[in-house]
Amino acid sequence: MRRSFPTIIPKKFFWDKRWSASGTVACVSCHEPGHGWTDPQQFSTNFAGKPTPRRAPTIINRLFSDLQLWTGLRASLEEQALKDSNRTDEKVVEHLGSVPTYQQEFRKVFGRELDPDGVAKAIAAYVRTIASGNSPYDRYRAGDNSAMSAEAQRGLAIFESKALCVRCHAGFNFTDEGYRNIGVGMDKDNPDLGRHTVTKKEEDKGAFKTPTLRDVAKRGPYMHDGSQKTLQEVVAFYNQGGHKNPWLSSDVKPLKLTDQEQKDLVAFLNSLSGEIDPEVGKPPTLPK
Ligand code: HEC
Ligand code: HEC
Repeated sequence: MRRSFPTIIPKKFFWDKRWSASGTVACVSCHEPGHGWTDPQQFSTNFAGKPTPRRAPTIINRLFSDLQLWTGLRASLEEQALKDSNRTDEKVVEHLGSVPTYQQEFRKVFGRELDPDGVAKAIAAYVRTIASGNSPYDRYRAGDNSAMSAEAQRGLAIFESKALCVRCHAGFNFTDEGYRNIGVGMDKDNPDLGRHTVTKKEEDKGAFKTPTLRDVAKRGPYMHDGSQKTLQEVVAFYNQGGHKNPWLSSDVKPLKLTDQEQKDLVAFLNSLSGEIDPEVGKPPTLPK
């Protein structure tokens, strides 16, 4: 039998700080609808009041991907929601389970008392509704030539050819779902080895997930360490060939783009800002 969520508890869980072990953070604290579903701060403040080791990625269009996190450590959205380091099974049951409305609504959906597994399933179901589309780029692709400026149209051509972006940011969601080393953070003494921490494979050292570029203009700073503040900075970084290191992807090399070509690329990236159902990002009223 397919489970459905007739009530809106999944969304409330996403907003409710009682979800965390300390009662101080909710999903929405680090994945803000008003900032491209990430955090305006370079690093978010976690349940213990400490900065997170990596930057919070956007969580738009996650329904199109199985593996989650910058490293692909989590196999599904359910697993991500269940194993998030800001919560514990005990506190989820203690805090959320003591809210009568949650118990009632949970029972209606799952036919049992509120438990960590069901809470995670509900949150994952909500995250799947955060989908961005109908950007100027999509309207241009659908035949509306006026949807994208001349600059952005030139940027699209550069994105797909000279700048090699499409080798990794491929397909309708602008990601190959792969893990690549483009050199971000590799100039540090003890760099974050990214995907390697999961697979232990030599070639995965310093590799991180290729993020979607949809809504990218809404969510700086960029990269797994938030080290690049603007899209101009990102394009300049690729233009110089990333940061050299032993595991740098062969698809990252000096591009020799002119100033105008770099501006065109940025204009194109700006045309990927789409629409999300406004109901999805509207804060719910939380029960007492
Ligand atoms: C304290 C800040 C914080 C909170 C609270 C938080 N996240 Fe995150 N989230 C992050 C960070 C940081 C990462 C990246 C971690 C990594 O890759 O190592 C992340 C990664 C993710 C990802 C993976 C996205 C991708 O592109 O792979 C999803 C999905 C996600 N979070 C959803 C949630 C949900 C749902 C909740 C609540 C149940 C939540 N987060 C709570 C900071 C937070
Ligand atoms: C070899 C694969 C590859 C190529 C080629 C590539 N990217 Fe990326 N891109 C990535 C990966 C991997 C990341 C994340 C890296 C990290 O955080 O360490 C990323 C991150 C980004 C980000 C930051 C997104 C965010 O949410 O933080 C932007 C913007 C971006 N790329 C744009 C481009 C553009 C524009 C080009 C072409 C000039 C390009 N990329 C070429 C793989 C690639």
